[in-house]
Amino acid sequence: MNLFDVYPINPINIVKGVGSLVYDDKGTEYLDMYGGHAVISIGHTNPHYVKRLEDQLHQLGFYSNSIEIPLQQELAAKLGKVSGKEDYQLFLCNSGAEANENALKLASFYNGKKKIVAFRKSFHGRTSLAVAVTDNPKIVAPVNETDNVIFLPWGDEAALEQAFAGNDISSVIIEGIQGVGGIQVAAENFLQKIRSVCNEQNAVFIADSVQCGYGRTGKFFSHDFAGIDADIYSMAKGMGNGFPIGGIIISPKIKPAYGMLGTTFGGNHLACAAGLAVLEVIERENLMQNAADVGSYLINELKKFEQVKEVRGRGLMIGIELPEELSNVRKDLLFKHHIFTGEAKPNVVRLLPALNLTKAHADRFLEAFAAEVGPR
Ligand SMILES: Cc1ncc(COP(=O)(O)O)c(C=O)c1O
Repeated sequence: MNLFDVYPINPINIVKGVGSLVYDDKGTEYLDMYGGHAVISIGHTNPHYVKRLEDQLHQLGFYSNSIEIPLQQELAAKLGKVSGKEDYQLFLCNSGAEANENALKLASFYNGKKKIVAFRKSFHGRTSLAVAVTDNPKIVAPVNETDNVIFLPWGDEAALEQAFAGNDISSVIIEGIQGVGGIQVAAENFLQKIRSVCNEQNAVFIADSVQCGYGRTGKFFSHDFAGIDADIYSMAKGMGNGFPIGGIIISPKIKPAYGMLGTTFGGNHLACAAGLAVLEVIERENLMQNAADVGSYLINELKKFEQVKEVRGRGLMIGIELPEELSNVRKDLLFKHHIFTGEAKPNVVRLLPALNLTKAHADRFLEAFAAEVGPR
């Protein structure tokens, strides 16, 4: 049997990882400024994480949501504490798309409305509703097309007000920083405006925090910079440091009912152990502060490069916009300097490293970057 060939892959076989370093099958060391797409939050093979998963596996790997799973409550309590959203309720699932799918569905259950506001260049996942609110027609199959989604220009308050004219909006879904869309930071006053129009019409504010959340920007949710509370936050990626786990946290005003949401694998014992280990390390090692500090350092240094058109982002979610003639930089960073980065079209280098990236590793990246793009 062959694999279904959907990924344009690099010919590199990574077999080992420690912190922000990974190694291929020939022993070549790479600096991971990409974190496997924002997933590696506390570093590869973090010892506390490995031990917690190992211990749990020896006890019990899985049992279904038909029994008590105290680890879920433990994870909810820890997540409430670290995120500062202690009165929210947690529903666990397995991925970012699934988290958004549940958030959008729950919003509609809550207010009985159907229309959803989403934004140009957004990415929210590939399941049916998540992909319907994603602004990329190439990945929307005919069966996922719907009239229920209204795409608005990023940051356009007048368009937002107009969309709300009919009083039929169930929810607004927005990334605090668009990731796939090229690291675009949502303006604080725009997030505040969304909060106020949602309040007026009992619409649900969904903060997609799958990529920009979980401490990456220096605050737990990047939407926190606007000083507002969303009704639902979706999360995944960094939540399990590689173990598949996602979730939504839900404002106390939205009440649960049996059968409303459900999943076979979501919240299983191993996933909870991974989720707890991640939060314990974030808390103990003060990783949000590190993300803020090393992130600011990188952003300030990157802004000094003559060839860089723009640097966007917050903390360790950084987009470097380059001129067209430097379209080979990512490839050269990877094959000449052995540094993984991400991309956003057309020519943005995306940095999404582990939250415990050291300043020395940031400097190693800056040196390699200078070798490719010229002087600061
Ligand atoms: C903002 C955002 N939302 C949702 C998703 C979907 O997450 P997953 O791939 O875990 O389904 C992603 C994935 O890149 C994302 O960046």
